[in-house]
Amino acid sequence: MTAKGHTETSAGASPRRSPRGTEAWERLAALAREGGDRPMLTLFADDPRRAERYSLRCGGLLLDYAKNRIDDAVMAALVRLAEDMGVPAGIRALFAGEPVNVSEGRPALHVALRGAERVTGAAGEALRIAVGTELAKARDLAGRVRAGTWRGKTGRAVTDVINIGIGGSDMGPRMLYHALREYAAPDIRCHFIANVDGAEIHSLLAGLDPETTLVIVASKSFATHETRLNANTTRDWFERGLGGSRDEVMGHFVAITENFAEARAFGIPDQQLFRMWDWVGGRYSLWSSIGLAVMISIGPEAFGELLAGAAAMDEHFLTAPLDHNMPVILALLGIWYRNFLGAQSQAVVPYCERLGYFISHLQQLDMESSGKSVSVDGEPLDYPTGTVIWGQTGTNGQHSFFQLIHQGTHLIPVDFIGVVADPLSDAIHHQALLAHMLAQAAALMHGRADPGLPPERRHPGNRPSNVLLLERLTPRNLGALIALYEHKVFTQGLIWNINSFDQWGVDLGRALVGQLLAPDGAGLADIDPSTRRLLGIIRGSQ
Ligand code: F6P
Repeated sequence: MTAKGHTETSAGASPRRSPRGTEAWERLAALAREGGDRPMLTLFADDPRRAERYSLRCGGLLLDYAKNRIDDAVMAALVRLAEDMGVPAGIRALFAGEPVNVSEGRPALHVALRGAERVTGAAGEALRIAVGTELAKARDLAGRVRAGTWRGKTGRAVTDVINIGIGGSDMGPRMLYHALREYAAPDIRCHFIANVDGAEIHSLLAGLDPETTLVIVASKSFATHETRLNANTTRDWFERGLGGSRDEVMGHFVAITENFAEARAFGIPDQQLFRMWDWVGGRYSLWSSIGLAVMISIGPEAFGELLAGAAAMDEHFLTAPLDHNMPVILALLGIWYRNFLGAQSQAVVPYCERLGYFISHLQQLDMESSGKSVSVDGEPLDYPTGTVIWGQTGTNGQHSFFQLIHQGTHLIPVDFIGVVADPLSDAIHHQALLAHMLAQAAALMHGRADPGLPPERRHPGNRPSNVLLLERLTPRNLGALIALYEHKVFTQGLIWNINSFDQWGVDLGRALVGQLLAPDGAGLADIDPSTRRLLGIIRGSQ
């Protein structure tokens, strides 16, 4: 342990240093000053092979990063920065199960969930067994629900599954379920309840039959307020709808949690408890039994494909040289724009409606991981970290926020995501969809400078974007896509010298809500007057 109580790891030479102290940082700052706004069209004119050279493939994914404000000098300096900040050692530390989550003194082993054999540390064998056992248990349950042999209190098969969870216990499975609609069993619907908004859960339950409904309570801690309240409401609904004691409705519940004691206290029997581990963060948990709703929907085999796609990206991340490493390249581009060209946000625009929730998933993954203002050693940072991630599907976004990206005063790099072949669409729609995507990326770069145009019609252009193409929206390619962004975020964390795996910032609000809800107003004494007054207005009107 260091003086500050942080566990030392090989995630970079220990103690890791500020990236600002590296020569590469200085070099990048100079490159940004001297040529950061060089027209990309000139860079294309100077290098006829630029499109091919700034392009990478990994499995069914292709990344075209040619439309960025970079050249070989910038890329070399960025790679040097990654080396100086110990990115290769950090990647090895992740896969070796070292305690890269320094503030909580534990590893971040989501990679073990999709390929425990890749984990090299001492715990490798134990992990393989634990992960394999849980996966087999989840497969068994999913298989029984799909075959109609998992029966509720009145002996009827399951037609509806409700996943109750929030944050990583909701967003990952929700995103997968919508993205993989093509593979879904037609006779089982999945529903996702996250928010504590009663209007949502009541209207969902009003349309469901308790006899044929299975609830998954997904909560690593089994202590999250929203999830507990929604689980209680659902349990009451079963008791009213089915009659009988609390224990008798428990055949309609399973839980995925690290906290077996609380799940048992809720009433769920042991054979319906699925394990989460402290070494899997919520936003990295969709690969575990947290994905159970999705496994029920698409089947264990397709879920296995999802894991295999992520494992292929893991292998690439672990073995490819930094300058040909897709997650590293995405991370370096993000660092270039955030730290050297002043961008504060990044838009993500999938040209595929089924990937709409991918943006929400990325928001948690990226901003919960990188929204940090102290280093791994607890020192305040004097450089920006974290990027505001936002977006919408295309073409819809073109008719709202694209105006700002094209002509506004912000620099906003865009990740366009397209699916080359879509069996759920038809040639006319699909060609149109992808033409829109390419047109936007090209327009951002080309701009429109014609001096004959009035100023409000001119586009400055030279605005950067990546294009990511998936051959098809299969479980395998989606697994690779998600893992790509996970590793991008981790790489940025290594360069910023922050802990990507804790999220202490969310605790304060959780504590305060407990105070506001305390029965006799006991918790209000030290709350500010504005909050007290607003609470009074809200309560007075109820
Ligand atoms: O919002 C904070 C957070 O801890 C997330 O990281 C997590 O995904 C979410 O809450 C839900 O937590 P749990 O799975 O413990 O209910």
